[in-house]
Amino acid sequence: MTPDGLTLLQRIRYSIFPGTFRKRMDRKSYLNFFNSLILHFRPRSVQERTLRFSLTWGLGGMAVVLVFMMFTTGLLLKFVYQPVPDRAYESIIHLQNNVPFGQLIRNIHHWSGNTLLIIVFLHFLRVFFTGAIHPPRQFNWIIGLAMFLAVLTSNITGYLLPWDQLAFWAITISTGMLEYVPGIGEGLQKLVRGGSDIGPATLSIFFAIHTAVIPACLLILMPFHFWRVRKAGGLVVPRTPDENPVSRGGSVPTIPNLILREIVVAVVLIAFIMLVSVSFNAPLGAKANPGLSPNPTKAPWYFAGIQELLLHFHPLFALVIIPVFILIALVSIPYFNYQTETAGVWFASYRGRRMAVVAAVTAIFVTPISVVADELVIDFTAWMPGLSPVVRNGILPAAFVLAGISMFYWLVKKKYAATNNESIQSVFVLFVVAFTILTIVGIWFRGAGMALMWPWEVGS
Ligand code: HEM
Ligand code: HEM
Repeated sequence: MTPDGLTLLQRIRYSIFPGTFRKRMDRKSYLNFFNSLILHFRPRSVQERTLRFSLTWGLGGMAVVLVFMMFTTGLLLKFVYQPVPDRAYESIIHLQNNVPFGQLIRNIHHWSGNTLLIIVFLHFLRVFFTGAIHPPRQFNWIIGLAMFLAVLTSNITGYLLPWDQLAFWAITISTGMLEYVPGIGEGLQKLVRGGSDIGPATLSIFFAIHTAVIPACLLILMPFHFWRVRKAGGLVVPRTPDENPVSRGGSVPTIPNLILREIVVAVVLIAFIMLVSVSFNAPLGAKANPGLSPNPTKAPWYFAGIQELLLHFHPLFALVIIPVFILIALVSIPYFNYQTETAGVWFASYRGRRMAVVAAVTAIFVTPISVVADELVIDFTAWMPGLSPVVRNGILPAAFVLAGISMFYWLVKKKYAATNNESIQSVFVLFVVAFTILTIVGIWFRGAGMALMWPWEVGS
């Protein structure tokens, strides 16, 4: 049908739904239209087994929904927020007290941002533990890591924007860490802060990175990520360790099978974020006061693990050598020599599962014991006063840790006669659990002067 002889409204409707136009479009025509729209960027069919919740836990989809919520609430916040030190804090107060739904929108942005970080971390773990890092998915792991860094940077830069005491001092601590990068540390810190101290230039730089640079990166990386999933023929097909990788299940149409599941996950997640956002306000301390530092001055929670490392290692090791080593390991992990047919099997095999449990239990015992021992017993400074601090608090403890990890790797590989996949995976578990425990210690078990304490002693 052509638009000749139609009313203005009908012509507008025709411009949106060409081809399917009727005088009154029925429900079926609308559905057809939206289905074909969806199928422009989703595959027609998916492997039935990949729909199992126990494969993805809906985590990738949740990350997408949360990024979308960050963009929409972030854009709304921009209408009120003013990125200059004299006005930033006041604009947040104004937003909370005078702007309709201002507090709610800020809360949604705050809780979604923090939840996003946790969800992306869990998605990263699920991808690793289901072996979705082997060819043809290797490069998608790298894109994923880049998105992880983007989400982390978003959270750090957003943290400063309210310009309260919490923000000012957490960012002072976080950017202070840059000083220890060998050779370029001071320059790098000045570049990030826009000068020697945190001030108007820092706020303006963080605002630009937060509201323009990172969103642009995410807008480029996300479609690339999804395209790589498509190019890999969809997600890894889940199976038990005994199942043959060739015996795959059949395909089912994306609509309604996948789309309905995605909608359910999105609705539940949004309901959860709304519930948290109406129940708990995003924190806001007193206005930033560069002359008054709180005690203890803590980094944002996602840096608590690194701040904890700083109490045990020389800053060059805690802030540069160890994180760079971990980053290099993460980037190169898909390119090690693997048995690629473990893709789709949780923890690679039954033996891989047992080894992962052994690694987790080892980390659960060894990490807190090492933290306490270092606080109460080990004192390299008193024992070896002649050594330089880099050797005493850097090379020496790092050599101990490395020797411990190498011994663990060798022992489990030998005891279980394990493959490369299983052994590398157990070291990965060791690191993840140890880092999680360090983060927990940093958040809840450190008090004034960063001394160890019980969480219930706060304020007593
Ligand atoms: C903003 C961050 C991210 C978003 C929005 C995102 C989104 C998604 C989505 C929607 C999927 C398909 C469904 C699913 O697996 O749940 C997926 C798969 C995948 N993601 Fe991510 N992701 C993000 C971060 C990451 C990270 C940090 C990594 C790893 C370092 C990663 C690696 C992968 C891989 C390898 C796949 C394919 C999995 C398979 O074939 O089974 N992604 N991602
Ligand atoms: C992955 C995406 C994003 C993350 C993880 C993120 C995270 C954050 C966080 C944690 C805060 C501090 C909130 C608080 O506790 O007060 C914040 C503030 C802010 N963000 Fe974002 N954000 C993202 C995207 C965006 C976008 C796309 C915009 C706008 C284009 C934006 C605009 C703002 C503004 C104006 C503030 C200051 C208001 C406030 O602090 O309440 N954000 N963001």
